[in-house]
Amino acid sequence: MILASGTGSLASALLDAVEDDEYPATVAAVVSDRECPALKAAERRGVPTTVVPMTDDRAEWDRALADTVAGHHPDLVVSAGFMKILGADFLARFGGRIINAHPALLPSFPGAHAVPAALAHGVKVTGSTIHLVDEGVDTGPILAQAPVAVNPADDEITLHERIKMVERVLLVAVVRSIAVKGVVIEGRKAYIP
Ligand code: GRF
Repeated sequence: MILASGTGSLASALLDAVEDDEYPATVAAVVSDRECPALKAAERRGVPTTVVPMTDDRAEWDRALADTVAGHHPDLVVSAGFMKILGADFLARFGGRIINAHPALLPSFPGAHAVPAALAHGVKVTGSTIHLVDEGVDTGPILAQAPVAVNPADDEITLHERIKMVERVLLVAVVRSIAVKGVVIEGRKAYIP
């Protein structure tokens, strides 16, 4: 199942991929903290959606989110542009089964401003990372990465769009591999065998 709160282009790439009968996974639901295009993309395809709005009590929200996700019995939770940090209760219930797409080559440029941070630093190559989610911000074991060259004329929008083109392909490939082979976690490291 997918967690998303943004424009939903990564979620849409997965939703498109699972429409192929040969793809070894399905999307049980798309869950968000707000109304957003990712939910519309799911609705158009007949995939169940739920909004769990953020509340003043973050721990309570985290439990409500975990309860909603648990109701769909997912093998894997895919955070695809989900703009909230998952809390302790959620991680306790789904730890090791949550992956996140991040628009930089971790451990460089973690956090919500990865693309402008990479531009400001003047790196010549950035990219996308798919990693397992742990209690930190973009600190979980890395599963896959793909590079994207930074052009001198890039701004945040052009660079992020090129990164997202790579992310869509990478995410679909990683979910396919996990569905077939699973994930091996060895301490701080993880890999798809
Ligand atoms: C992606 O760049 C992802 O890495 C980041 O949020 C973006 C989501 O894009 N976490 P979209 O909303 O799916 O288009």
